[in-house]
Amino acid sequence: MTINREDVVRSLGGEAAVAQMTHEQRADALEDFQMAQLDAEMAARRKSAKFPSVAELEDKIDKRTWRMGSGKLFRPGNEMGRFEGSSGSPNVKRLTPMPEKPSLYDYFALRFAPGTHLLQSAALAKARGEPEEVILGCLLHDIGGSLMKTDHGYWGAALIEPYVSERVAFAVRYHQALRFFPDAEAGYAYPVSYYNTFGVDYVPPPYIQEAYQYARKHKWYGLARAVTTNDLYAFNPNIDPQIDEFREIIDRHFKHPAEGLGYDNSPAAHMWRSMANPDAPL
Ligand SMILES: [Fe+2]
Ligand SMILES: [Fe+2]
Repeated sequence: MTINREDVVRSLGGEAAVAQMTHEQRADALEDFQMAQLDAEMAARRKSAKFPSVAELEDKIDKRTWRMGSGKLFRPGNEMGRFEGSSGSPNVKRLTPMPEKPSLYDYFALRFAPGTHLLQSAALAKARGEPEEVILGCLLHDIGGSLMKTDHGYWGAALIEPYVSERVAFAVRYHQALRFFPDAEAGYAYPVSYYNTFGVDYVPPPYIQEAYQYARKHKWYGLARAVTTNDLYAFNPNIDPQIDEFREIIDRHFKHPAEGLGYDNSPAAHMWRSMANPDAPL
């Protein structure tokens, strides 16, 4: 179930009203909201209403000024890179220049910000007592989408591969395919929001099916699956985790290059530079 923070705040009487509430009141309110939304979603599904088909989504392609697969740094839109119906401005934002030797922290502050989805997913993994490599995987799992949303798991894995363990890169790469395949034992169901995003009759292409089959049998399946089970579709207004809460884990498991991310001649350096300088003409 997708929870939009603005919808929750509006249902509670606005930001000022929410600020007056205690943590318990906010938790109760969120639960009420989720139940109401779940009821609404079930009613909509019973009437088989409102989820677009693959053909209907394809029909929109040449009615946009940008492509769905472009990275969110390269197009207008909100944090998730969604534009339609959720952002007022048709223009991209002016970005703060990066320091000379940027670290992962600089990318979080200046290119991935606010990064709520990543931080909340990592916080959930931490609260559930997941291993540190899973927490790091959750923190990094969607950074590929800043560069390119198409195949974001593969882009994300390529970005981090020189700096993390093979296990973390594996988890980030394969979370993309695993998200289409439920695993009841792990507590992962097909996301209802995908009916909207991919179309109600969407079937993942063969390379995704093959990636799933491969990952399913792999000894690190549990790591990649854990990234999907902690991948937070719902925005939780009660937690606002900061990158500093993960500093020890990052510093233990992410090898920062002395030259800065983008300037160390690694196989991924040009990809980091593209995120540092998305306004460079060539
Ligand atoms: Fe993802
Ligand atoms: Fe995600």
